[in-house]
Amino acid sequence: MSLNIQFLQLLQESQIITAAIAVFAIIGAFFISLKTLSFLKLIIDVYVLPGKSAWAVVTGASDGIGREYAMQLAAAKFNILLVSRTASKLKTLRDEIEQKYEVDTKMYAMDFTKGTPMDYGNLRDMIEELDVGVLINNVATNHEIPTPFYLESDEIIHNIVEVNISGLLKVTKIVLSKMLPNNRGLIINCGSFAGSVPTPYLSVYSGSKAFMNQWSQAIGAELKSKGIIVENVNTYFVVSSMSKIRRPSLLIPLPKPYVKSVLSKIGIPGGASYYPFNSNPYPAHALINWLISNTFSWSFWVNYTLGMC
Ligand SMILES: NC(=O)c1ccc[n+]([C@@H]2O[C@H](COP(=O)([O-])OP(=O)(O)OC[C@H]3O[C@@H](n4cnc5c(N)ncnc54)[C@H](OP(=O)(O)O)[C@@H]3O)[C@@H](O)[C@H]2O)c1
Repeated sequence: MSLNIQFLQLLQESQIITAAIAVFAIIGAFFISLKTLSFLKLIIDVYVLPGKSAWAVVTGASDGIGREYAMQLAAAKFNILLVSRTASKLKTLRDEIEQKYEVDTKMYAMDFTKGTPMDYGNLRDMIEELDVGVLINNVATNHEIPTPFYLESDEIIHNIVEVNISGLLKVTKIVLSKMLPNNRGLIINCGSFAGSVPTPYLSVYSGSKAFMNQWSQAIGAELKSKGIIVENVNTYFVVSSMSKIRRPSLLIPLPKPYVKSVLSKIGIPGGASYYPFNSNPYPAHALINWLISNTFSWSFWVNYTLGMC
């Protein structure tokens, strides 16, 4: 009788042990399957699926410095949205970028001096579909020649304000609506020495770049905690149609080395401590900026630009 009971107990124990082994085997198989699936996903992500690149929006992209930003960002595998005035120049650039760098591109031709609500609406719709990581606020217009303010045409004054200030604000606001939810982004504002040293006879341009400088400091502080970097790139002369300088020199680079300096030194502040969101990435420009800030008086430099213009 006691032998039977012992036998039954043993049988029960072995059944419990078998059940426990089965449970552990199921759990083990479950974990092995999970790990196998995760490894397969890794292989597919790394070797099979194409990379999902972020987009860079470049204004004034069809020429000069803006064109170079578009090329170098495409070389770094950003998809590019080109925004500028002349559709034919944009098409040529778009084809060149797609052929050379195999990234996606979009273009939107608009004249920022007119900047209609329809234009900004179309731009918003285009940007709505893109994962935008970088904005290059490059578009700008200038006085045709140095001119006393009271003699400057109303049209040129209007154009500088519309392109350099209204366009800047409107495009940035549209792009921010895409950057903020992702908590990441880089906004490069193409600043000028004319924005820090008042430039007589180019007064409206100089004022518009001073606006850009001050506004960059304000939004830079607002956006820092949201993972968005703002840089007002303080720039002396660069060879371009706007500067009307045709040949590079020690102090005046071509757009290519200038943009290379900017993109290789993102996040390194330059210049006065009260402008924490300024940078001076091109070495020769940084030296000139240091000279201006540390040698003669402010009125000396204003008189210097007065004489130059
Ligand atoms: N070059 C310098 O020495 C220098 C110095 C300091 C700061 N910056 C700044 O750097 C930026 C680029 O200057 P850049 O010298 O490269 O100028 P740029 O060679 O004259 O090129 C200007 C770009 O902006 C576009 N654009 C001009 N007016 C427009 C408008 N109304 N609507 C739409 N697009 C317009 C032009 O388009 P199109 O193709 O139709 O002409 C072109 O793509 C500017 O913000 C400028 O203030 C330049």
